[in-house]
Order: sequence, then structure tokens, then C-alpha cells
Amino acid sequence: MDRQYLIVGNWKMNKTPSQSANLVREIVDLRTKRGIASHVTIAICPPFTSLDRCAALLSGMDIAIGAQNLYFEEEGAFTGEISASMLKDLDLEYVILGHSERRTIFHENNELIHQKIKAAQACQLTPILCVGETLNEREANRTLATIEEQISSALNGVVDSNLVIAYEPIWAIGTGQTATPEMAQEVHQFIRKLLQKQFGEKGQRIHILYGGSMKPDNAASLLKQPDITGGLIGGASLVAESFINIVAATPHD
Ligand code: 13P
Repeated sequence: MDRQYLIVGNWKMNKTPSQSANLVREIVDLRTKRGIASHVTIAICPPFTSLDRCAALLSGMDIAIGAQNLYFEEEGAFTGEISASMLKDLDLEYVILGHSERRTIFHENNELIHQKIKAAQACQLTPILCVGETLNEREANRTLATIEEQISSALNGVVDSNLVIAYEPIWAIGTGQTATPEMAQEVHQFIRKLLQKQFGEKGQRIHILYGGSMKPDNAASLLKQPDITGGLIGGASLVAESFINIVAATPHD
């Protein structure tokens, strides 16, 4: 059997609901034209305001939807926040948590991210936990220590292996600067070992995505690394053609 991949589009704060609907239609059309690749799961993560509309358009299709954040409390006086059960009710499968933009701009720390992971799993949403080092940390040779700290605190005491990890070196996000396949593989292999330590055999099956300026022309070389099983795509997921070209770049027999 072909190795299974997961390609996720993180639309960030882009696309109004009507623009989102257009992009979804284009993605579906293009994918149908290119044929169905059974070794790749595709997911899109539009902004909150577009989720309902995208979910309706994709109902019954094998393109999954995720959100870009949630708040860990079930309900109550948390103005402006969205709970896991609100997302689950829209039939979402995934939720991105701990993205570096949330950590940096919105000051989310590892403890908060940990609470969010637990809330997502309690509602049977699959969290996509983002981890990654800054340029300073890389240059100070602290890449693996940073990743270990982020993963061990976010997954502290977590026994449910229903999750995805996305390794996103911060210096590669939106910069056009990609980690070389070898650099990324080194970190992915390290993450795989951490997951095996925590989840045993099940840790072997957790997707570990690479994110950070993944584009159609560099996707294949990243995705053929043994421990890179997919991508979390920002800019290139906002155009149907480049997103589907990344999907098409996943290696298969
Ligand atoms: P870019 O692909 O735009 O670098 O963004 C990566 C990212 O942050 C995905 O979550």
C-alpha cells in the first residue's frame, strides 16, 4: 500500500465567505480534473466565518475541513471565543493549535495550547499541533530542545494519539525560505521518536507535516523524506492550482 499523506491548507486571515466558496469550488474542480489520489487526504482550514459555507459545499466529499483555533472552555462568558463543540457541530475534523502566529502575536503559551489540545480531543476533533524554532534558536543550536519542550508540554499526560504534528520553522513561514529536506527530516525524525516514546506503536502512525514556504516546486523533495508525511500550506493554499499541485507532488508508486 502507498504511504499515506495529509496535505492541509491554512488560509490564515484570508478570504471572505464568498471568496472562500469560490476557492473551494476551484479546488474541487481541479482535483476532479486531475483524478483522485487515494494516498492523500486533503483538508482546508478557512477562517471561522467561512467554515459553515465551506462545510456545506464539501458535504459528502472527501476533502476535510478544519478550524485555525479554538478556546478550551466548553461554553460561557468568553467574548469572542469559539469552543470545540461549536466546531464539531459543523462536522469539522481538524483544528490547528499552537501556530507560531498565535504564539507570537496572541501570546499563547504551551500551557494554554495543552488545554486546547485536550478540549479538541474531548470533542473528537484532531488537533494539528504546530511547533517550530525561531532563527535565533536554530543558530544557538537549540532547535531540538525547543521542539521537545513544545511537544512535551503541549502533550503532557495526553494518551489519545488522535493528533497531527506540524513542524513549522518560524524563519521559513511566509518568507520564501524553506528548510532543506535534510534539515526538515532531522527534526521530523526527532519528533517521530518523541511520539513513539509517548504513544508506542500508535506514535508511528501520527502524521508529521512540514510547513513553511512549501510550494509546488519544493514539495516533492520534502515529501519524499521518510518522516515527512504531509504539509501545512499557507500562501500556496490560497490558489487552487498551487494547492492541488502540492497534492499532486506527493510521491506514490
Ligand atoms: P507559508 O506556506 O505561507 O510559509 O505558511 C506556512 C504556515 O504558517 C502554515 O501554517
